[in-house]
Amino acid sequence: MDIAAEPIVAAPPGFFAEEVFWVHHWTDSLFSFKCRRDPGLRFTSGQFAMIGLMVGGKPLVRAYSMVSPAWEHHLEFLSIKVQDGPLTSRLQHIQVGERVLIGRKTVGTLVLDNVRPGRNLWLLATGTGLAPFMSLIRDPDVFDRFDRVIVAHTVREVKELAYRDYITGELREHELLGEMVSEKLIYLPSVTREPFPVQGRITTRLESGDAERQAGVEPLDPEHDRVMICGSEAMNSDCKALLEARGFIEGTNHVPGSYVVEKAFVTK
Ligand code: A2P
Repeated sequence: MDIAAEPIVAAPPGFFAEEVFWVHHWTDSLFSFKCRRDPGLRFTSGQFAMIGLMVGGKPLVRAYSMVSPAWEHHLEFLSIKVQDGPLTSRLQHIQVGERVLIGRKTVGTLVLDNVRPGRNLWLLATGTGLAPFMSLIRDPDVFDRFDRVIVAHTVREVKELAYRDYITGELREHELLGEMVSEKLIYLPSVTREPFPVQGRITTRLESGDAERQAGVEPLDPEHDRVMICGSEAMNSDCKALLEARGFIEGTNHVPGSYVVEKAFVTK
């Protein structure tokens, strides 16, 4: 942990070296940053890439979902800060003007083509699992394919509801997306460890039917609805169990299904 990250001058093979131009600290354990995007970096909204720094003369990278949509000219990421985490203990100190490594290969299962067309698209996230869904809810294709898009974000404390003001405010005024978002996007934040108007885990709220009632939509139905899940391993497996008990079938990059799941990459 004592070795500091080195300034990145040239990109090592397999990476772009991109300049950071915006950093925002949400809490003492959560931050976002934006960097430039090489036009050669191609991805689909919802995918992830390997991101990191140079440490000890080598790339030190972890998987990060893009928060920015595929059409955006820059890249945006959401990260936790772990004080003794090899990467995030260093990455949390990134400053405007410094560079980060962006892997050239982009992959992931939380993409539109992996779910069949349907009525309502549910995006279930805990913590930094919101990242790929921030990308998707800024992609017009998502609104073209679904009647309603419901983002359910569960966190422990209110201050961890990253992007809450953006989703409820600026995004609805967005030149390109504002109209679609206002018509189709439903945001369901919930908090589990302090008072908040909506409390409880998304799993509990789906089991009771409270989530659907609050969203004002039909109860989850594998015939019509599609779900994407991104959280901790425990959250992912509980959501999978809940959906499979109701007849949902997991989609892959080869065969689309009624739901898809990916781990929120807990980077250290
Ligand atoms: P809770 O406070 O009840 O544990 P974590 O930081 O542990 O990943 O948790 C982030 C959020 O995800 C918390 O609000 C937490 O609720 C919730 N959570 C944790 N495990 C699960 C699970 N298995 N299913 C649904 N939500 C979960």
